[in-house]
Amino acid sequence: MKNIAVLVSGGGTNLQALIDAENRGEIDGGKITSVISSKKGVFALERAKNANIPFEVLERSNFSDNKSYSEALLKILKDKKIDLIVLAGFMIILDSCVIKAYPNKIINIHPSLIPSFCGDGFYGLQVHKAALEKGVKITGATVHFVNEITDGGAIILQETVPVLDSDTPESLQKRVMEQVEWKILPKSVSLFCSGRLKIDNNRVFILAKGEI
Ligand code: GRF
Repeated sequence: MKNIAVLVSGGGTNLQALIDAENRGEIDGGKITSVISSKKGVFALERAKNANIPFEVLERSNFSDNKSYSEALLKILKDKKIDLIVLAGFMIILDSCVIKAYPNKIINIHPSLIPSFCGDGFYGLQVHKAALEKGVKITGATVHFVNEITDGGAIILQETVPVLDSDTPESLQKRVMEQVEWKILPKSVSLFCSGRLKIDNNRVFILAKGEI
């Protein structure tokens, strides 16, 4: 069984989707054993508490830079024997010390079809605002591995939703979350934990169950 840490900074709806999937028996070979938040008082912590998952707050404001923050985080992850790190609305750019310690073992969810509307500065409603300004007719979300380039790691799963003429950034964000994010994040985590993701040259291949 792989130990999963979910890193959060906000409401935690993606964390909830993972908890619900685990409760339905849909996380094959993995268990959420830790929730770590970069902010105190966020609702994601309530979700962890309600699900009886050990949680802690490692506040970014107590550290002078991302490097010292990441070093402290890495120590916690190692102490807890974490095998997979899931970034679910975690608002800190991890320093390379964490990325090097967990190569292709960190998964992020981004609310656009990478390589569109991603990279530095594209987070939250900004992403959906940019999609509307560009006038794209479809958008979606991407689950990818984390490397040292923001939103640049190998893509695991992507799915689309239509953009409607009446959309606002808020309505588009809601559709992307409900119809895509909450579905493809648990699915990707399950594929990882059951050993079904093979990475070759920055491409991810999904192995059939019999191929493992
Ligand atoms: C999601 O839109 C996710 O794609 C992005 O941050 C948001 C987190 O929302 N990385 P929540 O905290 O899971 O509700």
